[in-house]
Amino acid sequence: MKVLLVCMASYLLVVNGGDIINRCVLAKMLHQEDLDGFEGYSLPDWLCLAFVESSFNVSKVNENVDGSFDYGIFQINSHYWCNDYQSHSENFCHMDCQELLNPNLLSSIHCAKKIVSGAGGMKNW
Ligand SMILES: *[C@@H]1O[C@H](CO)[C@@H](O)[C@H](O)[C@H]1NC(C)=O
Repeated sequence: MKVLLVCMASYLLVVNGGDIINRCVLAKMLHQEDLDGFEGYSLPDWLCLAFVESSFNVSKVNENVDGSFDYGIFQINSHYWCNDYQSHSENFCHMDCQELLNPNLLSSIHCAKKIVSGAGGMKNW
């Protein structure tokens, strides 16, 4: 019950909290979208990945030395996974990179599932 209350309080904070998503709210979203246990990776694995990649900044965009960009909470790369209309992309996730910045996280989660399903799993990050 205490955890639930903390979660609900955090949820209210996240609305005006800017780009940084609360860890507890994030955990809930990832769980709802069935990432807990997906391809053998636990919820803590996914939270750890999100923290290392973006520090929970859902709108993070980072340019790489090769001219490609990494997008969103999981810092998904434009060269392989999404189209940013700026550089060549394989676009394996069939989406605009901008969708990976949507605070509902649905596109990021969808694409992350595709990435982690490939050979190497989470080592693809
Ligand atoms: C989140 O990322 C965006 C884009 O990279 C950046 O402009 C913003 O300052 C970041 N927010 C925080 C709180 O670091």
